[in-house]
Amino acid sequence: MTGPAESDKDRKAQRVDADGEGASGPRAHDAANITGIEAASGHQSRVRVSYDAVADAYIDRVLHELRHKPLDRALLTAYAEQLQERFGARAFICDAGCGPGHVGAFLAGLGLSVTGVDLSPAMVARARMLFPALTFEVGTMTALAAADGRWEGLIAFYSVIHLTSDAEVRAAMREFHRTLVDGGLLLIAVHLGEHGDVTEHSEEMLGVGVDMDFRLFDADWLAQEVVAAGFTLEARLLRAPYPDVEVQTNRAYLLARRTAAVET
Ligand SMILES: C[S@@+](CC[C@H](N)C(=O)[O-])C[C@H]1O[C@@H](n2cnc3c(N)ncnc32)[C@H](O)[C@@H]1O
Repeated sequence: MTGPAESDKDRKAQRVDADGEGASGPRAHDAANITGIEAASGHQSRVRVSYDAVADAYIDRVLHELRHKPLDRALLTAYAEQLQERFGARAFICDAGCGPGHVGAFLAGLGLSVTGVDLSPAMVARARMLFPALTFEVGTMTALAAADGRWEGLIAFYSVIHLTSDAEVRAAMREFHRTLVDGGLLLIAVHLGEHGDVTEHSEEMLGVGVDMDFRLFDADWLAQEVVAAGFTLEARLLRAPYPDVEVQTNRAYLLARRTAAVET
């Protein structure tokens, strides 16, 4: 499962004020700095604490999930090939909101050089143990520690789903644009709301108590935000959920290329 809590019974749908929480977070780079996020964004702090708690259960659930997701494997493989054609066999990518690192590890298996970044120190600790050949850092995608133009590719698989304010989404898109080289490739995966953009609150995930919000996106809106941040949309895949493999939400995958720098 990669997304909203498995159990619908404890899910309380609730709309979150679109501009209620601003983009935030220090250029956090390690667990100690992460405490700064609490001051800047209470809700990112709740997401961090929640994923720290659910890390082991989440890993049990998703570590081998790509075996059962042929379209995801095909898309990730095509993504790697496009990067490699332009930037070489060991192109540098960031896996933003990497969780246990299994998606980045799939790409590393195809030859890419992968650094995972995640808000949750527990996730990062486990990712380091699971995939010791890869690099993992604690941080927030709304204020990445990486230098401008650090990456040739950046993926965000089911992680921007926790950016519940529009301001946070825009901050992340700016950071993705800033840390990618010109021509760099962005690949985002999200859940889709049945009736457009909606945010839901969860207090339970995989049998573990959590306290965090999940955003189910409107694909057109997210695509517009990606383009507004300075990307050219190259592909959009919408797919139904795989039965018995994942949460039963429709999904969108957006592939976009960094174009010119945005005037701020
Ligand atoms: C649903 S999991 C997805 C993990 C992995 N990408 C996957 O596909 O299974 C969401 C992950 O995003 C991380 N996350 C949430 N908000 C984040 C933020 N602002 N910056 C970095 N990571 C974040 C969480 O800690 C969690 O590990």
